[in-house]
Amino acid sequence: MVSVRGLPILAAILGVASVMPVFSHAEGASAPPVAHKQVSLPRVLVLATGGTISGKADTRSAIGYDAGAVTGEQLIAGVPGVEKLAQLQVEQISNIASQNMNSQVWFKLAERIRQAFANNEVDAVVITHGTDTMEETAFFLDNVIGDARPVILTGAMRPSTAISADGPANMYEAVKVAADPQARGRGVLVVLNDEVQSARGVSKMHTTALQTFHSPNLGPVGYVDPASVRFVAPAKPQQHLDLPVDHTLPRVQIVYAHADMDAQQIDDAVKNGARGIVIAGMGDGNVSTDALAGIERATKSGVIVVRSTRVGNGFVNRDVEVDDDHYGLVASMDLNPQKARILLQLLLANGKTSAADIQKAFSAGF
Ligand code: SIN
Repeated sequence: MVSVRGLPILAAILGVASVMPVFSHAEGASAPPVAHKQVSLPRVLVLATGGTISGKADTRSAIGYDAGAVTGEQLIAGVPGVEKLAQLQVEQISNIASQNMNSQVWFKLAERIRQAFANNEVDAVVITHGTDTMEETAFFLDNVIGDARPVILTGAMRPSTAISADGPANMYEAVKVAADPQARGRGVLVVLNDEVQSARGVSKMHTTALQTFHSPNLGPVGYVDPASVRFVAPAKPQQHLDLPVDHTLPRVQIVYAHADMDAQQIDDAVKNGARGIVIAGMGDGNVSTDALAGIERATKSGVIVVRSTRVGNGFVNRDVEVDDDHYGLVASMDLNPQKARILLQLLLANGKTSAADIQKAFSAGF
């Protein structure tokens, strides 16, 4: 295989990269077998989905930009030295801002990764992604990819055209972690700004700062710089769930709790056909007395209700201020509302319909 050479990002954006010798496949095309010349380097499949890492400046404000304007191929071409880390094969899965990330793209990613591993096409996968929903895509894949080979998500807080864009360094470090044998058996990882986070722990916690990703309950699992990869947490077995064969996930709505809360949003969710509701509760997953009455109506009609928290740090424990046993509720433990929603969707799609079974799966992380 011909390796990718470094190319300044501006040149890449201007289109020079379109002639770069990167293995690339059009969206939806099936991947041909790859011939590898540099046999000693690990084979890393880069799946590009869009996001700010693929963004270009826009004139609407001093920091305005359009996400998903640069291809994965152009991105790689703008990362000097990455060709010394791995043999890269690039595929464009989507080119969207991650506010538009959706379960169809998740299924596409999951199927492609499973296929690449099953056919032994690659040793690891790197996914470029917008930061807004990166934690959700990482967590979804973490729950459905049952393979020890590394799957790493990365992105950027500044577009490729910004002064001091962070995308090239994040991309370099993501490939470095993907190519490192120590990254095996750790589930899906997120690499940005010199830190390695687990899919379960990580959350975006600042609207604009480069150091936006933190794992408030678990801390980073490792650190990376251009010279080294260091893991500070042991590898941990993950639970893996089947991908629904019809590629659909049941409707699960998140309801955000607040002072002066009534049951309207909960009653509406049930009326709209939700099979599950995740409460972004106050404090330890609490809601008002009126909202609790709505929750009781929901569970009595067969809807699974998970109590998570809007706080952003800490665990939601069972039977503290709310009598979960009495109301038949599930406590989210460490999972924030957006991840609790995904786990509940996957469990429902895998035929888990009792609050007790669902609680067991939520508690299994600890
Ligand atoms: C997005 O998530 O696509 C926009 C924000 C970002 O990537 O940082």
